[in-house]
Amino acid sequence: VESMKELPSGAGKIPRLNAVVLGEALASEEDDLVVPSEDFSRQALVSSPQQYLEMYSKSIQDPAGFWSEIASQFYWNETWGSEVFSENLDYRKGAVRIEWFKGASTNICYNALDRNIKAGLGDKVAIYWEGNELAQDGQLTYKELLEKVCQLANYLKSVGVRKGDAVVIYLPMLMELPIAMLACARIGAVHSVVFAGFSAESLAQRIVDCKPKLVITCNAVRRGPKTINLKDIVDNALIESTKNEVPVGLCLTYENPSAMKREATKWQDGRDVWWQDVVPTFPTECPVEWVDAEDPLFLLYTSGSTGKPKGVLHTTGGYMVYTATTFKYAFDYKPSDVYWCTADCGWITGHSYVSYGPLLNGATVVVFEGAPNYPDAGRCWDIVDKYKVTIFYTAPTLVRSLMRESSKFVTHYSRKSLRVLGSVGEPINPSAWRWFFNVVGESRCPISDTWWQTETGGFMITPLPGAWPQKPGSATFPFFGVQPVIVDEKGNEIEGECSGYLCIKNSWPGAFRTLYGDHERYETTYFKPFAGYYFTGDGCSRDKDGYHWLTGRVDDVINVSGHRIGTAEVESALVSHPQCAEAAVVAVEHEVKGQGIYAFVTLIEGVSYSEELRKSLILTVRNQIGAFAAPDKIHWAPGLPKTRSGKIMRRILRKIASGQLDELGDTSTLADPGVVDQLISLSDC
Ligand code: PRX
Repeated sequence: VESMKELPSGAGKIPRLNAVVLGEALASEEDDLVVPSEDFSRQALVSSPQQYLEMYSKSIQDPAGFWSEIASQFYWNETWGSEVFSENLDYRKGAVRIEWFKGASTNICYNALDRNIKAGLGDKVAIYWEGNELAQDGQLTYKELLEKVCQLANYLKSVGVRKGDAVVIYLPMLMELPIAMLACARIGAVHSVVFAGFSAESLAQRIVDCKPKLVITCNAVRRGPKTINLKDIVDNALIESTKNEVPVGLCLTYENPSAMKREATKWQDGRDVWWQDVVPTFPTECPVEWVDAEDPLFLLYTSGSTGKPKGVLHTTGGYMVYTATTFKYAFDYKPSDVYWCTADCGWITGHSYVSYGPLLNGATVVVFEGAPNYPDAGRCWDIVDKYKVTIFYTAPTLVRSLMRESSKFVTHYSRKSLRVLGSVGEPINPSAWRWFFNVVGESRCPISDTWWQTETGGFMITPLPGAWPQKPGSATFPFFGVQPVIVDEKGNEIEGECSGYLCIKNSWPGAFRTLYGDHERYETTYFKPFAGYYFTGDGCSRDKDGYHWLTGRVDDVINVSGHRIGTAEVESALVSHPQCAEAAVVAVEHEVKGQGIYAFVTLIEGVSYSEELRKSLILTVRNQIGAFAAPDKIHWAPGLPKTRSGKIMRRILRKIASGQLDELGDTSTLADPGVVDQLISLSDC
């Protein structure tokens, strides 16, 4: 807690609102309340604040009863014992532990595919796939998807992948990505999807940590006008992992002919195998491996406040029940919906709300390979019209980037199929919310601003469309079973209208269970800052009506376009540059990305700064982490502001980065206060 930065400036700013006590007098638009239409509410799964409150109260008073009733709608090969869940969130009482439905056995792939097919959805479209280019597309029904999954699952078994083995998946948004995830789940293997925008170094780091039996990739991908050679990146990662004593003997490579022909692909005989040569030769049926509800389903690495990414581990049963239920209620899902989430499966949103959550509900999902502004800024709405998308879930950064273009790109398309919109990844600023609501949704589609994290598995604070009025920029109220609390620095819960650190009391089924191979770090990072609670790392305020307003990270994590990047990761990439002596990275506000990366760099003695060096430092970060982590600004720093004990005072750096020079505060504790003036004088270099 000591190392946390002061609460972001948004905290404590309570919006001016009239009282909207749930179910009582609803105030008007002027109070910035957006009331769902009666038509929408009437058809909604949760259609009033009272109905929500009843369900919510039950979920809190009797979580075992609430969740076991929902869980019984899934298929369990064996059911759980007398205890639906057991937990210890207080490290002072022993190891932190969360278990849901322990002892029960199930399979999430079976529940997503076989169960839905048995219920008559075999011929329903599971996936509409839209390629990078306008005319490129494809589709799979539930039955066809199951066949593809089974073929790959059989192949994986044939090469020795067994229950509990890790499989790294480094694929773009082809249908093969959810297919690979489901195939692993079917045989009880643990997938670790690495976003295909990560560099070879980052991929290698993840391979070394989880030691997979094989890597699944494709030769190349087209993203907008560019072709990215993924296989080269994997080759380099495998050289690197071998150096670290984790050789991987098999690289299953999907040929993506629209991006690159196989003849042009670099190949290592004996290690590399073409997907198309082997997978289709396997049977289209594959028996299910029943796993314990608490057996691991996947690992997903995410950034923390130290350099090493954390392997967030999710297990099977609770995650299954939670992602399916949150998807259903937060998007008011109906079987006739066509759902499109623009996230990549390389992030948690693509795990929970491209793949598992929607498929568990038997939904039709759009998977889009390309870039949302290619060939032009109307692409999203073209796709919405093409597939008659009814639920559109995206990130504020995309909303803001499209908002800057002419609204003709939106109005050129009908969009009349849309009925629910969603937002995720960072706080959505009210003006972006308004544009999304008024222009894209023509003021008829509620927006589910879903607050959650890689660690939470699924939505935690989110509107339920139709249930209550929305406030642009507020994630509103907790989902069933979630007890958010706001605490002060000492960990005391603060009631009513307040702002502070957001924690969660008690467990929920979708919670992560550990950090892979490092339970101690799990406890230290999440459960020790405020004893007895899960600490989210976010600041939050609650207004007098009980609405929650997320105010951003309070730790050393930067949120760039909804991607979490640890300042320490960028710093360690920068200092690996032979001419960089020291680096300190802070977040600054960014018009489109939400936050940008601002790096203060001290060069080694005798080296002078130059444009070329700036580019080469940025390239180093791109190569070590990925293009999305490239600093927006390099600020040359002859010295960094440090305390006498050598600690960098980031508070001061943040003020300099955001140009708030009259708010530097007390600089007298600095070892060398002159450093600050030097930095200010170099601001424009
Ligand atoms: O700071 C919060 C922000 O994203 C962080 C979680 O990042 P990640 O694990 O990568 O997952 C992103 C997708 C769930 C949170 O700690 N965040 C996410 N959604 C919102 C948000 N901040 C405000 N409002 C949101 N809706």
